[in-house]
Amino acid sequence: MPTLHRTLPALRRLRLANAFFQQPARLRLRPAAQPLRSLHSSPQVRQEEKKASPTTSASSADHAPQDAPDRPQSKIKYTSDSYPDLKRDSRFKTVSKEDVEHFKKILGSEAAILDGVTNETGEEDFEQYNSDWMRKYRGQCRLVLKPETTEQVSGVLKYCNEQSLAVVPQGGNSGLVGGSVPVFDEIVINLSRLNKVRSFDDVSGVLVADAGVILQQADEYVGKQNHIFPLDLGAKGTCQIGANVATNAGGLRLLRYGSMHGNVLGLECVLPDGTIMDDLSKLRKNNTGYDLKQLFIGGEGTIGIITAISILCPQRSSAVNVAYFGLESYEKVMEAFKEAKKQLGEILSAFELMDRQSQSLYHQASGAKLPLEGEHPFYCLIETSGSNTEHDSEKLNAFLEHVMSEEIVSDGVVAESETQLQSLWACREGISEAGQHWGGVYKYDLSIPLPELYSLVEDARKMFESNGLMHTEDETFPVKDVVGYGHMGDSNLHLNVATRRYDKEVERALEPWVYEWVAKRQGSISAEHGLGLAKKAFIGYSRSETMIRLMGKIKETFDPKGIMNPYKYI
Ligand code: FAD
Ligand code: MLT
Ligand code: ZN
Repeated sequence: MPTLHRTLPALRRLRLANAFFQQPARLRLRPAAQPLRSLHSSPQVRQEEKKASPTTSASSADHAPQDAPDRPQSKIKYTSDSYPDLKRDSRFKTVSKEDVEHFKKILGSEAAILDGVTNETGEEDFEQYNSDWMRKYRGQCRLVLKPETTEQVSGVLKYCNEQSLAVVPQGGNSGLVGGSVPVFDEIVINLSRLNKVRSFDDVSGVLVADAGVILQQADEYVGKQNHIFPLDLGAKGTCQIGANVATNAGGLRLLRYGSMHGNVLGLECVLPDGTIMDDLSKLRKNNTGYDLKQLFIGGEGTIGIITAISILCPQRSSAVNVAYFGLESYEKVMEAFKEAKKQLGEILSAFELMDRQSQSLYHQASGAKLPLEGEHPFYCLIETSGSNTEHDSEKLNAFLEHVMSEEIVSDGVVAESETQLQSLWACREGISEAGQHWGGVYKYDLSIPLPELYSLVEDARKMFESNGLMHTEDETFPVKDVVGYGHMGDSNLHLNVATRRYDKEVERALEPWVYEWVAKRQGSISAEHGLGLAKKAFIGYSRSETMIRLMGKIKETFDPKGIMNPYKYI
């Protein structure tokens, strides 16, 4: 952890707020590899099951109501039942005992195979590989393979390709679009045992590591040598760096460090036929032909498996400050963002937006105290990271003076300890889980031009107020609340509709309405979470027919038998 610079609060008001606010952090302190699911502990009322009705697209499924992560867990409905129009591709072979024997020879260790084909391994042992973090999708895989080397991945894929066995690459299984779990009986290739750091050069800042290294561990590793992994997100204790690349994850500091497309210098990938594509370059510049690795960045495991990455890690900042503000309107939020860019410039490392409703849900679900005493329609979290404590402090104070005296910001706190810093971040990062707390959440991850970014939340709220589906207190209404938050600095809004149960009517009200709304503003229907199963049917709202056709050709070229993560993406 960088040493925390204790900024002198610019105003007395901020100082008072600091004294009031002290609470333990949550998500960011979770130990690596611990499942994300059980953070909260309060019991919840189970919702009554609803029957599925036929649907035409993956994301218009009628899921049985699921328990929120901290509830007594009911079974998740099979994806094949939620989406009855999805049929198993008959080109794919069912895994046989002979296949399992072959995989045993390749992988060689008991720990490398979870086998429900040749023995009686119970369904519950497969639960964590078959079902996703949102508890929305559930596959029926009976074989999980955990290779430990690139050569083993190659051997496994070569055989699967020859035998027409479909596979799903899986990292930490924290994806939010249903991409990391099987739909039917696809074999799960879990990368968790492929988890060694290969090298780190503290002069260039280049880290080379296996795909299965957990993000938080990668960050801690380079942190010991005063560097920072250029990605940070709420699931950092669980997600894997190979999967981060495969999803082109954006996260909380993209504003400062840029996307995976810029930071990844090289990849080692295994193609479906077993070929190892060794492009583990450490070069920043390499204009020799098509940059093939870019296809795997955000490829969501549809054209091959990433087995190692080479990534540029910036110098870790010695001075980190976090401030949390209350603001009276979205216009003020935009003004604050403009001022932050103008006055904090190169030290600004995050600018996150949270609306009142999102903070209220976070407070209700986690029981955590919010940093400010009064309520405000909007909140922002600003982080600065720099190398000169005095310089940063001067800049931050000037900025705080300005936004407070111009009444752009109504109230705020600046973290004065590491604990406070973590707690302020928790108010932002805890929203994801809070949204699911009442039974389910419809999640939309959108790129929208900044001036209109929040209008979508307002329009969605109006729609639910007029169609009679929403009530914050009355449990008979399906929708509890509509919340907006996200990476303001990247024009990336997360629209979450927190529901008490998954409900066809709610879904029909939202889809394709949200996608049409976004397409009209030339936005993107998936800013950072990807397509997976959830967004596959809606790609046309953000990509032209020509582009979709070309994507199809790329898929065919790399994976002519279609064994890689079928039923998803393209
Ligand atoms: P998984 O969920 O296991 O897999 C994701 C996809 O990648 C699947 O399609 C899978 O088949 C494929 N895949 C996995 N490993 C490989 C591999 N080695 N080679 C090829 N394909 C592979 N996402 C953001 O972008 N920004 C955020 O701020 C953010 N915050 C989150 C906060 C929370 C609380 C949670 C639960 C999720 C968040 N996510 C966020 C989503 C998720 O964490 C990211 O998509 C992450 O990159 C997924 O990593 P994973 O290891 O869990 O991958
Ligand atoms: C976030 O920014 O918190 C994430 O992308 C996760 C989410 O949308 O739930
Ligand atoms: Zn996000």
